[in-house]
Amino acid sequence: MDTLVGEPLERYALAHTQAPPELLERLEVETLEATDASQMLTGRTEGQFLRLLATLVGARRILEVGMFTGYSALMMADALPADGELHTCEVDNDYAAIARRYIEQSPHRDKIHIHMGPALETLEGLLGPFDFAFVDADKGNYPNYYEPVLGLLRPGGLVAFDNVLWSGRIVDPQDDAARAIHELNERVHRDPRVEHVLLTIRDGILIARKLPT
Ligand SMILES: C[S@@+](CC[C@H](N)C(=O)[O-])C[C@H]1O[C@@H](n2cnc3c(N)ncnc32)[C@H](O)[C@@H]1O
Repeated sequence: MDTLVGEPLERYALAHTQAPPELLERLEVETLEATDASQMLTGRTEGQFLRLLATLVGARRILEVGMFTGYSALMMADALPADGELHTCEVDNDYAAIARRYIEQSPHRDKIHIHMGPALETLEGLLGPFDFAFVDADKGNYPNYYEPVLGLLRPGGLVAFDNVLWSGRIVDPQDDAARAIHELNERVHRDPRVEHVLLTIRDGILIARKLPT
């Protein structure tokens, strides 16, 4: 993933963002060593941003689509009260095995519920309402995730979609993922049921708030 603001500014922002718990620092190192996809991990700045959003929305129930090795799940779970819940979807057993090991060591282990399998199927079986949702799985399905996730959100709840600027390729979408992300961005932009903003943080985060009816 190319960052939008360039390496020096990314490093500066990282250096001036609250450090995550030591467990997450270790998870980041292991993800780097054990997977060939460490760029998928949200990391400190976006992780803290998600944690803050979940806190501000007073989240008691969080939904995540795309867990990977568990970094963002653990960050967001930190915003939950002791009886809060985070439901996260993942298809890959190897990534999930790493996530499980770290979740087990964390104070949030009882809050986090992992649902293995294609997220579109998992979403069909989940019961709302959720206060906050973070979508960060297969980009080709972004437009398909929108309605089910919105349906599971409470009025006033927030959904955040990651990588919506697709390393800048979104302005001239040439691949399937870019076209799907663009479709999602357009769909949200035209949707009167939400208020929304597309932020140029990291690889772009689209945040939509479901309006109370
Ligand atoms: C970008 S990573 C998620 C990163 C994670 N949020 C973090 O901060 O570490 C995307 C994840 O979505 C998973 N994924 C891809 N397609 C999926 C699907 N159809 N259903 C559920 N998970 C999927 C991938 O295996 C991968 O682990």
